[in-house]
Amino acid sequence: MNCLSPSILSADFTRLGDQIREMDEAGAQYVHIDVMDGLFVPQISIGLPVLKSIRLITEKVLDVHLMIEDPDRYIEDFVKAGADIVTVHAEAARHLDRTIAKIKEAGAMAGVALNPATPLSVLDYVLPECDMVLIMSVNPGFGGQKFIPYTIEKLLSLKKIIKSHSLSTDVEVDGGVNLENASRILDAGANILVAGSAVFSNETGSITDNVRAFLKLLE
Ligand code: DX5
Ligand code: ZN
Repeated sequence: MNCLSPSILSADFTRLGDQIREMDEAGAQYVHIDVMDGLFVPQISIGLPVLKSIRLITEKVLDVHLMIEDPDRYIEDFVKAGADIVTVHAEAARHLDRTIAKIKEAGAMAGVALNPATPLSVLDYVLPECDMVLIMSVNPGFGGQKFIPYTIEKLLSLKKIIKSHSLSTDVEVDGGVNLENASRILDAGANILVAGSAVFSNETGSITDNVRAFLKLLE
């Protein structure tokens, strides 16, 4: 299924509840929550207490993107706080196979994220265990960056690999996704689009307008 996962990193945090309700009512299927630890990426963003509060106001899929070192330390806590999907970075998990197993044992879907420069080959043996692969199309750490064009090539290769193994792994793309490049990204094999600034800080439309425009492309 094709889904939109608006990244609340670009939301107005003084009105976070209202903005999540608005994207929810407009039809976005997921909520993308970026957790940053100031080590794996330079910024520190939001964590467990905020996730718990979001869980109280929406039944949509909570898509938690952990940009943190040694994510095993927090997997159970994030699932208990309400995460439906927990995505870890292959670059940050020393024992990736174990980390994926931990996410599933805790009761969530397991995603693995790859930075732009990380080759797909890190997935060679664990791909069948992944519910989702997140292809970063910017270097993680900030919203509002420009989409890196070679991501398209990476998506095409990933799609081929998934097909050749007869898998049905979800493919999510995160970073610089907007209404202009979304169709190209979907055509290359993604089925879940993360969009932060294009949903929350696009001056030409409201959150509702932006979500609806994305959903049209995702149909
Ligand atoms: C970047 C985050 C993204 C970010 C996307 O490190 O993982 O989820 O919020 O923001 P845009 O869509 O503005 O690039
Ligand atoms: Zn993200």
